[in-house]
Amino acid sequence: MKKILASLLLTLGVSGMAHAAGVVGDAAAGQAKAAVCGACHGPDGNSAAPNFPKLAGQGNRYLLKQMHDIKDGKRTVLEMTGLLTNLQDQDLADIAAYFTSQNGSIGAADPKLVAAGEALFRGGKLDQGMPACTGCHSPNGVGNPAAGFPHLGGQHAAYVTKQLTAFREGDRTNDGDTMVMRSVASKLSNKDIAALSAYIEGLH
Ligand code: HEC
Ligand code: HEC
Repeated sequence: MKKILASLLLTLGVSGMAHAAGVVGDAAAGQAKAAVCGACHGPDGNSAAPNFPKLAGQGNRYLLKQMHDIKDGKRTVLEMTGLLTNLQDQDLADIAAYFTSQNGSIGAADPKLVAAGEALFRGGKLDQGMPACTGCHSPNGVGNPAAGFPHLGGQHAAYVTKQLTAFREGDRTNDGDTMVMRSVASKLSNKDIAALSAYIEGLH
């Protein structure tokens, strides 16, 4: 009963949101519109280069938020300067729907770092008040699409390292008023970040 209620609430939340935004994405239309993105992110959203994030299988709410944040200058991505300027809300929704519908690929974790990364991902640093990553990004790394917590499993380690460092240094600040990722990352050393990134790349 509890489960049914929870999933009902989630469904209501999601459809309520799509309604509020007034646009529903069309993945088929998004495929053509995403052609320009494919040069860096891969035609199906599985990018080849480790500094270009994979978008395939990423949660729709998270993807859309990032696209709006990048377009509005709340998150700086120099490589994407001007690329989103002429896209309307419907275009962004269609492109997000397309990438969400694709299957994300998994990378290979660096075996030397996996154990340390797994311990942090699953256990956090409770003595320092840092929660486990699993609470929001889920034990298998799929995140929480309805809540907008991103899918991490299989993401390029180099990209994850760059984001965790950027949150820690205050170079990425679009994690909301609660500053959830800035506060998590403030507890991470460079070594922790390397271990977590390696673990995440192989996580599925
Ligand atoms: C010239 C290369 C390039 C092109 C073309 C490009 N991007 Fe990006 N994109 C990047 C890079 C690099 C980042 C990550 C920047 C960083 O490290 O923060 C990024 C980040 C993103 C993110 C955030 C991903 C995440 O996991 O948070 C989204 C969403 C995104 N791009 C969507 C798009 C869309 C949609 C298009 C096409 C309209 C596009 N990009 C075209 C290079 C590109
Ligand atoms: C309380 C919830 C919460 C916890 C705990 C948490 N995260 Fe996050 N994380 C988020 C949210 C929300 C975002 C998206 C912020 C935004 O909208 O830009 C995020 C974003 C990220 C991103 C950026 C993803 C991308 O594609 O750019 C990475 C990497 C990440 N988290 C890693 C971690 C790691 C590693 C841990 C554990 C050490 C962790 N997170 C713990 C909520 C959380």
